[in-house]
Amino acid sequence: MTAASIPLDGMVHYDLGTIDRIPPGEGQTFLVAGREIAVFRARGTDEVYATQARCPHKAGLLADGIVGDGKVICPLHSNKFDLATGAPLGNACQSLTTYRTEISHDRRVLLWLSAAAGWSGST
Ligand code: FES
Repeated sequence: MTAASIPLDGMVHYDLGTIDRIPPGEGQTFLVAGREIAVFRARGTDEVYATQARCPHKAGLLADGIVGDGKVICPLHSNKFDLATGAPLGNACQSLTTYRTEISHDRRVLLWLSAAAGWSGST
């Protein structure tokens, strides 16, 4: 799913729709410009995090994992990752690629990506 994109400072943002599409404490996979991105909504706040959609271990769909305390637990083999940094927590997996997110004044989820590098990943 991809909506508007507006270039600014070498970054492009994509409007993923209202935050209410993602229940608190859950994740959802979006298809943005041909790439799968997982977006997670914190429980109790409107913070959102975005990472690569699939676990570096064996491609588990991270949006189906357990989300809490700024972390996600992969649904396949329970490896845990920090959602803000992508760092593995207590396991030897590679870090997740993370992406900058923002909630607009009208509660829409904006995902920011590097326009120049295409899809090399960034925060
Ligand atoms: S696929 Fe995620 S921990 Fe194995």
